[in-house]
Amino acid sequence: MTLVLGIETSCDETSAAVLEGHGSAARVRSNIILSQDVHRVFGGVVPELASRAHLTAIVPVVGRALDEASVSLGDIDTIAVTHAPGLVGALLVGLCYAKALAFGAGKRIFGVHHMEGHLFATSLEHPDAVPPFTALLVSGGHTLLIDCPRWGHYHLLGATRDDAAGEAFDKVAKLLGLPYPGGRPIEQLAASGDPTRFRFPRPMLRRNQTRADADYYDVSFSGLKTAVLLAVRASPDMDADRAHLARAFQDALIETLAEKTARAAREFKRQRIVLGGGVACNRALTAAIVERVAALGAVVYAPSPRLATDNAAMIARAGLFHAGHDAAHSWNLNAYATLPIPGLAT
Ligand code: KG4
Ligand code: ZN
Repeated sequence: MTLVLGIETSCDETSAAVLEGHGSAARVRSNIILSQDVHRVFGGVVPELASRAHLTAIVPVVGRALDEASVSLGDIDTIAVTHAPGLVGALLVGLCYAKALAFGAGKRIFGVHHMEGHLFATSLEHPDAVPPFTALLVSGGHTLLIDCPRWGHYHLLGATRDDAAGEAFDKVAKLLGLPYPGGRPIEQLAASGDPTRFRFPRPMLRRNQTRADADYYDVSFSGLKTAVLLAVRASPDMDADRAHLARAFQDALIETLAEKTARAAREFKRQRIVLGGGVACNRALTAAIVERVAALGAVVYAPSPRLATDNAAMIARAGLFHAGHDAAHSWNLNAYATLPIPGLAT
């Protein structure tokens, strides 16, 4: 048995988790997530406030993760900490604390790439969500379409050329006068929207696209956001149109993501589709992907909201994999705002 302590502070969640690993199987013993409320009034994450909030939360959050798992630091074998990508000030809080804990207690440390954590998250509750699979990672900061033949080997097929999917939800929510973060409010409002009232263009999606086209797998959401802005400006009655606009925006974004995910599954003949990141909470997105890949006989695995959004259990899970395959990191381990996923080929 291997006990991994995971620590995640890349954005606005302070999280710590204890994971129990048995070979390739893993069980979450605790997963404490403290969401920072301080950013809400600003309508987006304020980096300096995030770092300060992590500083006050990190010690009690790690303490609670150990307590809830009924273990002490001495029982832990490995510490896994998010070291990229994210807000550097925020990452440094978790990384420095993890290094200090590991150094003081004589533990191995593994720096984990946040998006590799999202890739592993779904397997914590769906044991079949393991390679080979097609992955769609959709969070506030990233939109990545990946083919994964086995853990540690990732083939990047497509990404966003501008806004991430979650970022598009958040920005459009602001245009519609909805609270931050905007994904959930848009999904709820869209449910009562009439899909025929407005229609926005499907960005980078054309029926005659071929694999040779540079935008066959890439996505882009900033033009869609502008289309919503123009429709909001032209609306004579936003109270009447808000739900219809939310629906039209969500339909356009979802159709683009679902079609490109289905293309990838078809090309690589994958029978499993793994979703990850906060936008994977969106039921309409999951349903659209299920519908599109049904003909391929593929199964879609989506994490529950607690594992879809940022959490340390997924970081511990990716750390458990690396602990079994790679040498531990040195004390020089640093934090990076951007970094390719280890094992990523384009
Ligand atoms: O993965 P995540 O927790 O944080 C990042 O790593 O960025 O993702 C947060 C994003 C936010 O943009 C939020 O609006 C979006 O996930 N989100 C959703 C839903 N729930 C959260 N987007 C669409 N539909 C949802 N139900
Ligand atoms: Zn994330």
